[in-house]
Amino acid sequence: MEHQHASDPPPPWKAAGYRIQLAREADLPRLAGVERAAARQFPGRLIPPAQRAGVVPLAVLREAWNEGRLWVALSPAGLPVGFAVAGTCDGEAFLIELDVHPAHQCLGLGRALVARVAQWARTAGYAALALTTFASLPWNAPFYARLGFQALVPGACGPALAERLAAEARLGLRERVAMRLSLR
Ligand SMILES: CC(C)(COP(=O)(O)OP(=O)(O)OC[C@H]1O[C@@H](n2cnc3c(N)ncnc32)[C@H](O)[C@@H]1OP(=O)(O)O)[C@@H](O)C(=O)NCCC(=O)NCCS
Repeated sequence: MEHQHASDPPPPWKAAGYRIQLAREADLPRLAGVERAAARQFPGRLIPPAQRAGVVPLAVLREAWNEGRLWVALSPAGLPVGFAVAGTCDGEAFLIELDVHPAHQCLGLGRALVARVAQWARTAGYAALALTTFASLPWNAPFYARLGFQALVPGACGPALAERLAAEARLGLRERVAMRLSLR
């Protein structure tokens, strides 16, 4: 994962007054709206309507918040407009969910949230950060590849990651791929 150098200009989100930080309790009920708005970008051929409307349950967000593995992007007005939830899978760190509201995309917030999750994972001693995503959508697998993630062939997935892909396929999601960023 690349690093910001002192001489680099600040990323657009920072220059515009956004912040990335651990979520606050008051952010939790606002995240479903961000997730639903972001999910509207997924084409219907890749995800059934019922799945597109689904969100990370509040109890899951609350547990992640409680354990310090939920981060938010805050707008200049202080409202959450993006978030990332991390967990574990097969003994490695796992990006459970990443969303940025469409009105606030392409400012580098997604990239910065992934960097925050990778930093958490590295500090916690995990060897890698894995995720599952859509293989062909430009803001999914190609975006993660630019951040250093590599696609895993099915045989290279651990049992829990393989089961996660299988569960996604059962829900009707198509063209999903697992990816992994080595942290060592
Ligand atoms: C993925 C997502 C979080 C990225 O958020 P973001 O704040 O826009 O991210 P960034 O600004 O850091 O970067 C987005 C990248 O996608 C690219 N991108 C976005 N939309 C694109 C499009 N329609 N066509 C081509 N590239 C696109 C941008 O050019 C940028 O690439 P770069 O940083 O390598 O130049 C956001 O698109 C989103 O919420 N999507 C819907 C939910 C989703 O896909 N979540 C991830 C599932 S694993």
